[in-house]
Amino acid sequence: MAKKLQVVSSSWAIRCSFQTLIGLLVAILVIGAIYLTRESEQLLEEQVTNNQSKDGDESVGSSTSCDLFSGKWVFDNKSYPLYKEQDCTFMSDQLACEKFGRKDLSYQHWRWQPHHCDLPRFNATALLERLRNKRLVFVGDSLNRNQWVSMVCLVGTSIPPQLKSMHGNGSLVAFKAHEYNATIEYYWAPLLVESNSDDPVKHRLPDRIVRAQSIEKHALHWTDADILIFNSYLWWRRPKIKVLWGSFESPDGIYKDVQPLRSYEMALKTWSDWLEFHVNRNKTQLFFVSMSPIHEKANEWGKDAAQNCYNETEPIWKEGHRGSGSSPKMMKVVEGAIEGLKMRGLKVQFLNITQLTEYRKEGHPSIYRKQWEPLTEEQVANPESYADCIHWCLPGVPDVWNELLYASIFGHDKVKEEVEL
Ligand SMILES: *[C@@H]1O[C@H](CO)[C@@H](O)[C@H](O)[C@H]1NC(C)=O
Ligand SMILES: *[C@@H]1O[C@H](CO)[C@@H](O)[C@H](O)[C@H]1NC(C)=O
Ligand SMILES: *[C@@H]1O[C@H](CO)[C@@H](O)[C@H](O)[C@H]1NC(C)=O
Ligand SMILES: *[C@@H]1O[C@H](CO)[C@@H](O)[C@H](O)[C@H]1NC(C)=O
Ligand SMILES: *[C@@H]1O[C@H](CO)[C@@H](O)[C@H](O)[C@H]1NC(C)=O
Ligand SMILES: *[C@@H]1O[C@H](CO)[C@@H](O)[C@H](O)[C@H]1NC(C)=O
Ligand SMILES: *[C@@H]1O[C@H](CO)[C@@H](O)[C@H](O)[C@H]1NC(C)=O
Ligand SMILES: *[C@@H]1O[C@H](CO)[C@@H](O)[C@H](O)[C@H]1NC(C)=O
Repeated sequence: MAKKLQVVSSSWAIRCSFQTLIGLLVAILVIGAIYLTRESEQLLEEQVTNNQSKDGDESVGSSTSCDLFSGKWVFDNKSYPLYKEQDCTFMSDQLACEKFGRKDLSYQHWRWQPHHCDLPRFNATALLERLRNKRLVFVGDSLNRNQWVSMVCLVGTSIPPQLKSMHGNGSLVAFKAHEYNATIEYYWAPLLVESNSDDPVKHRLPDRIVRAQSIEKHALHWTDADILIFNSYLWWRRPKIKVLWGSFESPDGIYKDVQPLRSYEMALKTWSDWLEFHVNRNKTQLFFVSMSPIHEKANEWGKDAAQNCYNETEPIWKEGHRGSGSSPKMMKVVEGAIEGLKMRGLKVQFLNITQLTEYRKEGHPSIYRKQWEPLTEEQVANPESYADCIHWCLPGVPDVWNELLYASIFGHDKVKEEVEL
């Protein structure tokens, strides 16, 4: 856009007076500024595409591609859920909504239908064969753990009890399918980099402190994995983040308040630098899961602002609905980090689940989960006050995230093209 305007301006310059020219230049500057961000992204994109087609290692058959993330929810009472809640040996009490009294079970029956193609059917055996002698590791916050539990259910329900096990050690938990020597693991690192919330159990602290430059303590546990799935989002949504230069133990560490968006950027820079230099790009497949939206303000879908996801039984039908529970700015930061890695020759596939998840206001545990502390009378009288509108009931929405992951693991290039749009 800016380029075009410049061409126009040079032909005009010949005919226009000096004053008009100045006016025109100002206009160009203003318009240019608006388009600058987009333009530079497009330029990067062009460069990358050019270099890649020169190398000849990318097939650019866009006619074969289909955006799996653009579509609609279809009630499918026959094929869904993909497993029964009570059949999942390693289900979490945070997510077992039926067990904790939810009567309306329609949330289990929705299928994601992309607009221009179908999702491949999830085949646990095929995935296990793909994972033979391999490690698949989810790294991130409790939403990523939610997706990991879903994956363990999807795969685990097809394995008899004596051939599977679960083993935990600190921040790392591993599900193992013995016949395949395959593990599906989860590593707790809610901010990806080191932070004061790294304890897998005791991490609810009033102040958020991150060592934005340090990731190796965590990364040592997953750098050699074969498939890595990252996320990190909710823990950055704070008015303020303290960034620490130095170590938590050392008395002369320097603490500075940093804008959350800026500290997020710093952390993702650390993350991508680590990947660039430590991940074996010949063997490791990388994914980043976009934000999972929260549904804490019912006025965003036409109800009273005092309500939230509690008592919701239907998805939102408005196409393109976007609540305040997801941040486009943070999404841009992630996209930027992924673009940067692409320029350095490392592919990270972006699982763009935000929009499709926005619709599912009824899929949260709400009050139907284990309460870790006894409820007060006040809470009981006011179920909205303790409803969980962040995580997701299983079976449910994260099963679909895993179907998308499954499609991306197998249909590598097809989905990657979408990400490159
Ligand atoms: C593309 O290749 C040119 C030279 O061939 C190089 O200068 C440039 O940095 C490359 N760009 C990317 C994004 O790799
Ligand atoms: C994510 O998917 C939505 C819905 O298809 C789309 O509007 C949005 O542009 C996508 N974002 C990225 C970064 O691909
Ligand atoms: C599923 O469909 C059958 C009829 O096809 C119906 O009787 C049943 O109530 C439906 N279940 C749900 C959860 O809607
Ligand atoms: C699932 O995958 C396995 C291994 O690739 C294959 O043998 C089996 O036929 C598949 N099952 C279905 C229902 O497609
Ligand atoms: C089992 O899988 C691990 C990776 O998780 C691998 O290092 C090991 O070599 C495998 N064992 C055998 C016998 O192949
Ligand atoms: C737990 O992990 C630590 C390293 O982080 C290791 O030294 C220890 O042996 C592990 N324990 C078990 C029971 O696997
Ligand atoms: C990756 O593959 C390339 C070409 O096949 C090879 O030259 C390189 O040594 C490999 N790198 C690693 C870390 O295995
Ligand atoms: C739940 O929603 C239904 C309508 O969908 C309404 O009749 C009922 O009063 C609501 N219950 C509570 C406790 O808000």
